[in-house]
Amino acid sequence: MLLTTAAAAAALMLLQQAPAEGVDWDAEFGVETKERDPVTGELPVDPYEQSNANAGATPYDSARLVRDFGGRDGIVRIAARTVELSEADPRIAAIFAAHDMVRLKRTLGEQFCYLIGAGCDYSGRDMRTAHAEMGVTKADMNALVENLQAAMCEADVPFAAQNRLLAKLAPMSGQVVER
Ligand code: HEM
Repeated sequence: MLLTTAAAAAALMLLQQAPAEGVDWDAEFGVETKERDPVTGELPVDPYEQSNANAGATPYDSARLVRDFGGRDGIVRIAARTVELSEADPRIAAIFAAHDMVRLKRTLGEQFCYLIGAGCDYSGRDMRTAHAEMGVTKADMNALVENLQAAMCEADVPFAAQNRLLAKLAPMSGQVVER
């Protein structure tokens, strides 16, 4: 019995040490490897129809609001900062770690810029598709909103203007939150 166990262990060790060279393990296990675009640095996503309707709401039309957010540059910075704060937030960091933050910073910036009415088009996916099977909870949603509020406060956006963006985003929570 002891001998059989020893023989089995020896066989296992041999197997474990078998050279893996020449074997494409990703292909072997059906793992899809995605490569970043050399120009944009983004990972590819499944094809979808691009439309501003994917942004989830209609835009404001107020030069004052755009000014309050520091123009297009200010808006894009606030979106990127919201992502940065979320990546560093232990409550939700794990959700972000598994995704393409280069793309998210760009598309979230476009979405905010479009909704605030600063003249951008939104080229990302709709909210339901973008967050499908992510398992986002109500608590995760609150954490993200807190990070957005922190980013807007850092940028000295007046509270009334902050609330106007939040009012556009709030109804989208039904398409994002899954449990
Ligand atoms: C109303 C609230 C939210 C809005 C407006 C929003 C907006 C967006 C936008 C515009 C995208 C990019 C879609 C694309 O690139 O095609 C996206 C993706 C993403 N969102 Fe949200 N989001 C919201 C809530 C959340 C929450 C609560 C979390 C997690 C705590 C989250 C995590 C993510 C992640 C990880 C991605 C990347 C998905 C991927 O690359 O596949 N989002 N979101």
